[in-house]
Amino acid sequence: MKTQVAIIGAGPSGLLLGQLLHHQGIDAVILERRSADYVLSRIRAGVLEQGTMELMREAKAGERMDAEGHIHEGVSFSINGLQRRIDFKKYAKGKTVMVYGQTEVTHDLMSARAKEGGVTVYEAENVQLHDIYTDKPRVTFTKDGKTVELECEYIAGCDGSHGVSRQSVPKGAMTTYERTYPFGWLGIMSRTPPADHELIYANHARGFALCSQRTPMLSRFYVQVPLEDKIEDWPDARFWDELKARIPQHTAEKLVTGPSIEKSIAPLHSSVSEPMRYGRLFLAGDAAHIVPPTGAKGLNLATGDVSILFRVLLKVFKENRTDLLDKYSELALHRVWKAERFSWWMTSMLHKFSDDPFAHRIQLAELDYYTTSEAGLTNIAENYVGLPYENVE
Ligand code: APR
Ligand code: PHB
Repeated sequence: MKTQVAIIGAGPSGLLLGQLLHHQGIDAVILERRSADYVLSRIRAGVLEQGTMELMREAKAGERMDAEGHIHEGVSFSINGLQRRIDFKKYAKGKTVMVYGQTEVTHDLMSARAKEGGVTVYEAENVQLHDIYTDKPRVTFTKDGKTVELECEYIAGCDGSHGVSRQSVPKGAMTTYERTYPFGWLGIMSRTPPADHELIYANHARGFALCSQRTPMLSRFYVQVPLEDKIEDWPDARFWDELKARIPQHTAEKLVTGPSIEKSIAPLHSSVSEPMRYGRLFLAGDAAHIVPPTGAKGLNLATGDVSILFRVLLKVFKENRTDLLDKYSELALHRVWKAERFSWWMTSMLHKFSDDPFAHRIQLAELDYYTTSEAGLTNIAENYVGLPYENVE
């Protein structure tokens, strides 16, 4: 097999890159370890920045998103029960975000690719990258018991945090900076109406909580839990009681509860590996960096990387501008580190790290300050809706 760009991973990063390249006449083959159904069964966050929405449209996969997604013009913080709203229109120069599940984004990209005849090999086992520091890189994999070789010009490593791409880089050629947090998020999905018309991020003496949503009858909620907790420790009734105790009283009183249709616990983690390039391998999305979900940045950072990589590859293939390949990592990392900072800060400001009442008072003062000063409101709003993309030159 032969292609121009071998893409490892059919998550949102790989699929989006594949679509954008396809529409410019650049051939790509996507290799995915799992089945399409498995990829679509993963529940992830659901807030799209404007840049992500625009890329979905550019990839000709934005139709359902525009019809079914919900534009949000603000978000609320609950500070020990007191609700304060951040108005994006006012503090982020008219920008907004869209609530539309990442699972739906993946679904729409997958069906657009299938309709247009793009090649995606699902259940590709034992994917291995070869000769990535030469001008003739290759990828091998096993499909239905047979070993297949894919020759290509460039490799896009879009295979998430446990993928093979980053692991194929020799030790010492990349540096990873990371932080773990001493708690996790217990999340549930329920066929119930949202708690409020916008998202509520709550800091409470009992710990963090988040009321999110997908559609008028599908909601997503999270509470901070100790890392040792298991799903079995959290029957639905206990979850709802804990959530209600952490959010504003007027919201708790009208909250409609129901059986969970999904329940999971996820640890929180920050990490960045740099540079995001080694020879002809370019990392994008979770393959290069992880953010804790508190700022809703995971998917949006991935699409930001893809936007830069796509524009670089376009100039390489159409105008032979191979000099731009050197700029990818630096350009992507400018935005990545700022989103890492915002996600870390949101996490630090909203979660319970200890029983120290002084530390909690400081968090409350910080939240009070940020949600009442013009500078603070602007800071949160412009980071939450997403910082601008840089031009590739
Ligand atoms: N070979 C082939 N495919 C692989 C391999 C491998 N060795 N390892 C992992 N993959 C696949 C995974 O099965 C997955 O489908 O790569 C894909 C990576 O997708 P994601 O983990 O979703 O990562 P990405 O596309 O970068 O999406 C960005 O945003 O909200 C965040 O973490 C969230 O997934 C989200 C991310
Ligand atoms: C979600 O809806 O799953 C969600 C929303 C916002 C976040 C994290 C997760 O910050």
